Formats: sequence, C-alpha cells, structure tokens
Amino acid sequence: MTTTPPLDLVVRNARIATASDCYDGDIGVHQGRVVQIGASLPSGVREVDARGRVVTPGGVDAHCHLDQPMPAPVRMADDFDTGTRSAACGGTTTVIPFAAQHKGQSLREAVDDYHRRAQGKAHVDYAFHLIVSDPTPHVLQHELPALIAEGYSSFKIYMTYDDLKLDDGQILDVLSVAREHGAMAMIHAENADCIEWLSRRLEAAGRVAPRFHALARPMLVEREATHRAISLAELVDVPILIVHVSGKEAVEQIRWARAHGLQIYAETCPQYLFLTAEDLGLDDSYQGARCVCSPPPRDQSNQEVIWNGLRDGLFTVFSSDHAPFNYDGTEGKRPAGEEVSFRHIPNGIPGLETRMALLYSEGVLGGRITLEKFVELTATNPAKAYGLHPRKGSISIGADADLVVWDEGERVIRNSELHHAVDYTPYEGRRLRAWPALTLARGEVVWDGQFQPRSGRGQFLARKAPSLWSRR
Ligand code: URP
Ligand code: ZN
Ligand code: ZN
Repeated sequence: MTTTPPLDLVVRNARIATASDCYDGDIGVHQGRVVQIGASLPSGVREVDARGRVVTPGGVDAHCHLDQPMPAPVRMADDFDTGTRSAACGGTTTVIPFAAQHKGQSLREAVDDYHRRAQGKAHVDYAFHLIVSDPTPHVLQHELPALIAEGYSSFKIYMTYDDLKLDDGQILDVLSVAREHGAMAMIHAENADCIEWLSRRLEAAGRVAPRFHALARPMLVEREATHRAISLAELVDVPILIVHVSGKEAVEQIRWARAHGLQIYAETCPQYLFLTAEDLGLDDSYQGARCVCSPPPRDQSNQEVIWNGLRDGLFTVFSSDHAPFNYDGTEGKRPAGEEVSFRHIPNGIPGLETRMALLYSEGVLGGRITLEKFVELTATNPAKAYGLHPRKGSISIGADADLVVWDEGERVIRNSELHHAVDYTPYEGRRLRAWPALTLARGEVVWDGQFQPRSGRGQFLARKAPSLWSRR
C-alpha cells in the first residue's frame, strides 16, 4: 500500500495558473516541494486560503545584476541580500545574475569571487550566468566547457562597451563552445563603433546631457548588431538569445530569422514597455540619468511592437535587467558626485521588484496578454531557457513550491515601499492593479505583505542544459 506524505502546507481554493492552463484546485506541499494538486486535499500543518485569487509559479528573473564588480568609483547598490529581498517581495523566487569576467581575469576566478559575494546572503534561490569578456584559448578550451558542465549553462557576450565587447571572430569562437557543449549564449546586440562615432560627435557639439544617450544609440545600431548576431549564430549553427530587445527594427530581424528557420530567442524588459526616450529628459536636466540604460527606451509605437511580440510568441522571456545604481551619492549615476557626460553615466535601471506586477497589471489585467502567457514569460520559459525546468518555473508534482498568490487591488509604486537598496524607481507614482499578496519560496513564506527575512535560505542552483530545444 502506498502512503501519501503528510502535507506541511496546503494552498487551498486557488485559481492555479500555469503556462498551459488555468484551473481551480489545492496545492499540497511537503518538504519544500509540490507533492499533490487536486480538489479537497487533506489538511496541512499550515493552510493558506487562496479563494478568489490567482496563484502562479514564483517568478524566474533570468537577467539581473547584483553586486557585480564595477570600475571604481561606481558600485552597485544591491548585493545578494537586498537584491533577493526585493525579488521575494515582488514575487520572484529565482534570480540569475552574472559572474562577470573582466579582461585578463580567469573565468573560474570570476565565478569563485561571485560565490563569495552571494554566500549566506540570498533570500531566494539563485544561479549564475557567466559573462565572457576575454575568450583566450584557455578559457575557450578548458574553463568555459568545464564551467558549463558544472552547471553554469549560459553566458552573456557583448557587442558593445569597451571593457566587455568581443569582435566577430571572438563571438564565433564562443558560439562554437556553446554549440559543442549545449549552452545558451545571450547576446547584447549594439554596434560599438557606431555608438563611439555618434558619441564623439555629440560630445564635440557640447551635447552631453543624459537625453543624448538615446541619440548615441539609435535603433539602427541595435538593428545592425542584432542582424550580425543572427548571422554569426547561423554560421555556427547554434541557438542564441538576444537580450533586452527594445523595439521594431530589432524585432523585425528576429522575425526574419525565425521565418528562415533559425533558433533565435529573444528577451525584453519592462523599460521597453513603460518608459520612452523622453524619460531621459526633454531638456538638459540631469534627472534623466535615472533612466539611462542600453539599449535606451524608444517611443510609444515601439512599445506597441514590444507588446505584440510578447503576445504572439516573438519573445521567449521577460526579465528586469535590474542594474542597481543610486542616483544620489558618489557610486552611481553621478560617479564621484559629478554630473558626467551621458556616455559615462552607469547604464541600467532597477526593476527586480516591479517586473512581475507591472506585467500582471498592464499585460494580464490590461487585456494585452493571457495569464498563461504571463506565466510562460516570467517563469516557465526562463526556467527552460536556462536549464532550471521543471524544478523551477512550474506548478507541477515534484517542482519546488515557489508560488505567488496575487492580490488584484490598486497599488501605487513608491520607492519608499520597495525593498531594494536603490534610492529611486523609474516607475515612481505609477498605478498598478495587482501586487503579490504572498510569496512562497520552497514552501516558506518570504513575503506576506511584510518581508520575512532569512538570509542564506536561498540556495545556489547548478543548472542543466536549456530545454527549449532538443539536443542534436
Ligand atoms: O543598461 C543596461 N542594460 N545595463 C545593464 C547591463 C546590460 O548590458 O545588461
Ligand atoms: Zn546588456
Ligand atoms: Zn543586463
């Protein structure tokens, strides 16, 4: 006779939302995992009544930056403590930040350093992508293959930023490693030389305010690099994922590639739905530095293109690209306390805590995407793309009990109520129609309207190969 384990927790009367279905039921949890899903489950030691509420898998934020070493005096405001705290309070239960290799550094050393930064601090589970900026023969032949095998099954490469960018030959080399070892290559696609040329001309004309960041990085620099990244991937015959796609012209390149049978995946982020280049400033005020990120936010018609891509499957994942720099002080948007030229403003904006609620409010409750699509984009697909599925990103038997119970009530975003360590949010004052009422991470309450801290409860996740495509 088989015995069912006693239930530590039952989430009862839930409207359970997965990437494929929405249905009513109870979720039974034992030792941090989902062990039963059904009607009228037996009592649990703890009970949560979710009647009338949607329950989704905890979010998987597959693109965020936490405590990533930066050139002095710049420093990220969020470490693994504050970053994962804000993740939990916004319904994200898994984060994948970046162990970044700087040029001249061994990749292994970058990973070891990043583990030290995370150790004992995280409130939710975490994995690491790699950033490969120096693909030496040793890195390509030994370090990268070994790290992929150990569970770092994805890496990001850059086509821009002087300290990170690779040339086309180097990109072909690292893509070949991704192909041979079954890893996911994420590509930041912007043409570095065009940006440099435009930036110099703008600076020579005295145009240095934050708003000129958008003029130095027009859509065509993203379009060209996106097309080139696709061509390089086609040459090597390997799937890639283009990160932080901002608008129409890049989307068109990806559609073209898909129509030609290429496995090109794509990510977009809240800033391309909810911000425009005008948020960088209508005049030469420095305030717009808060919204400086790359690629820059575009305009309303591009926002519509991004919504369409989320709806029709062009986008695989929806990530925050949380890059936490304070506006005030000396370590963030004003390096050494100075108002600097647009090209020296640290790139990136905070968004870990607001990612899920923004998409739920404006996407699902705004009638733009289905609840199933929301789950796919924020949890299931990121888990599949980066080798964490089905343990993460789904509500299914055996999966981690990472769950969000949603409260569909009005809420206004106030930075003073967020849990990151950044001194602003680009979404200050924005009205939302939903926010997580409860976040469970492996069955433990981490957010119930109050943050429930337990530093070090988050575990490192060694990852498998991506499961978006079948291995050759
Ligand atoms: O501006 C951005 N996106 N900053 C974060 C770093 C990156 O390129 O993703
Ligand atoms: Zn990037
Ligand atoms: Zn990023």
